[in-house]
Amino acid sequence: MLGDPGRQHSTERESGDPHALAELARDCDVIVDGFAKLVGVQTFQRRRKTVGMTVVREARRKHVISAIVEVAGEALELHGTRAHAVKEQDRTLPPRRMHVRDRPPRGGDARMVASDKPLETAEEGSQVKFLKSDGVYLLSDRARDLIADEERYGAANYAPLDVVVERAEGVWLWDVSGKRYLDCISAYSAVNVGHCHPRVYAALVEQGQRVTLTSRALRNDRMPGFLEKLTRICGYDKAVPMNTGVEAVETAIKLARRWGYAAKGIAENRAEIVVFQNNFHGRTMSAVSASTTPEYRAGFGPFLPGFVAVPFGDMDALKDAITAETCAVLIEPIQGEGGVNVPPEGYLRRVRELCDERNVLLLADEVQTGFGRTGDMFACGHEGVRPDVLIVGKALGGGYYPVSAALADDELMGLFGPGDHGSTFGGNPLASAVADAALDVIVSEDLAARSQRAGAAILRALRAIESPLIAEVRGRGLLIGIALTIPAHDLSEALLERGVAAKDTRPDVLRIAPPLVIDDAAVAYFLERFADAVAAVGRRP
Ligand SMILES: Cc1ncc(COP(=O)(O)O)c(C=O)c1O
Repeated sequence: MLGDPGRQHSTERESGDPHALAELARDCDVIVDGFAKLVGVQTFQRRRKTVGMTVVREARRKHVISAIVEVAGEALELHGTRAHAVKEQDRTLPPRRMHVRDRPPRGGDARMVASDKPLETAEEGSQVKFLKSDGVYLLSDRARDLIADEERYGAANYAPLDVVVERAEGVWLWDVSGKRYLDCISAYSAVNVGHCHPRVYAALVEQGQRVTLTSRALRNDRMPGFLEKLTRICGYDKAVPMNTGVEAVETAIKLARRWGYAAKGIAENRAEIVVFQNNFHGRTMSAVSASTTPEYRAGFGPFLPGFVAVPFGDMDALKDAITAETCAVLIEPIQGEGGVNVPPEGYLRRVRELCDERNVLLLADEVQTGFGRTGDMFACGHEGVRPDVLIVGKALGGGYYPVSAALADDELMGLFGPGDHGSTFGGNPLASAVADAALDVIVSEDLAARSQRAGAAILRALRAIESPLIAEVRGRGLLIGIALTIPAHDLSEALLERGVAAKDTRPDVLRIAPPLVIDDAAVAYFLERFADAVAAVGRRP
């Protein structure tokens, strides 16, 4: 079925002859099947097309087709011997404990088999546990088992990169094989202070031994200090502590609607909020109701009424959308999930002025952009804009705990009375202690300034790269988007191979958002690997 494993690549097969290429494509289909069975059908099917293409491209470029055929032959053979044993198992589960490294490869040195590059060795492990060639992962047993269990028992509502993280510190992640990656995702900007920051950890442990949860039915001794610090740093009178970012967005929406009726005099149930195309405010029904992204909405209607979307950056459209029934404009000062979209210079300031003119609240969702991410404490700060409601989350939890908040001044916050809004976990002692420590780190380590400095260096270097793959480099501080002419996933995979974890935010945009504690050496590490990955992907036919 696989053809003769010992067959060497022939000149016809490299010549571009249509018959030879058809044969190559057929072989590659078989190879893809072989790998699918080896590494887990479910995981592989999702990548099947990309991987198939990559194998074809790589095979043609590197002349390793016969070697790959051989390894796939081994895979199928191994699979065959276990076929009976796994017959009774759930077919969707990948066969376990089968890894190409479990047996010496037939053709001799494994290095020759799936890649012409040397095997990457685990930085801290004594044993090489995985083998990887562009786009093709052969995972360690443990990684495969964990991925299989995740897919077996967890809903498939994410498509993560197949890196199973076991440990993290500062800007670095280690997977279960001991391979090290520079984290350029930072849990979607939730790890601004770096992984496992000792000061936040100490607060977590210390508080964890005293009291962690009271609910707001009682008062606790940690929340007041946390709220004092938060309001002082953010510059507002009061805060509503919540947990996830989307809950803080919900809080702001409720507050704005309440204000619309109680203060502005909008007729009951008529209040509208203007939002922006490509926004991302989370995943609850009100957030997806505000969304314009078809994938986030499909099959989830009916939606909450009262949202009107206009193009991000278009002042005239915003002016037209605001009516007497508009209670608020809800904006991300830089759209993160939407593709790291930076508005035109002066836009936020003009939006602020328009809101004042038309008696409309400005709600700024700084869940992703806040706490130094863009090189200022808040992205609105770049234009001296103070929103009426500031929405924060992610980094407030110091990478340890979900902590979010909506902040406003007394007049507005006074519209919430007992029972109007709340959360069992919001403001709990553990969350308060952790967030208090995270704020200390953000301020005392001057993370906004560090983000500004490192971000400027990365942006400058990325913009200097001349490659047809890069259409645009945009962003502020350490929230950087690279618009590509190829699927961003391809570059993400090439970076992963080189020890950099970065993920696409839109299909053609790769987001680079490392922890703000990144130092010059790690910046250099990133730039070197990024240039290499771009060059490697660019060389593909
Ligand atoms: C701007 C913005 N708002 C809200 C959210 C939702 O935050 P969470 O996932 O913590 O609910 C996100 C998450 O990515 C976000 O980027």
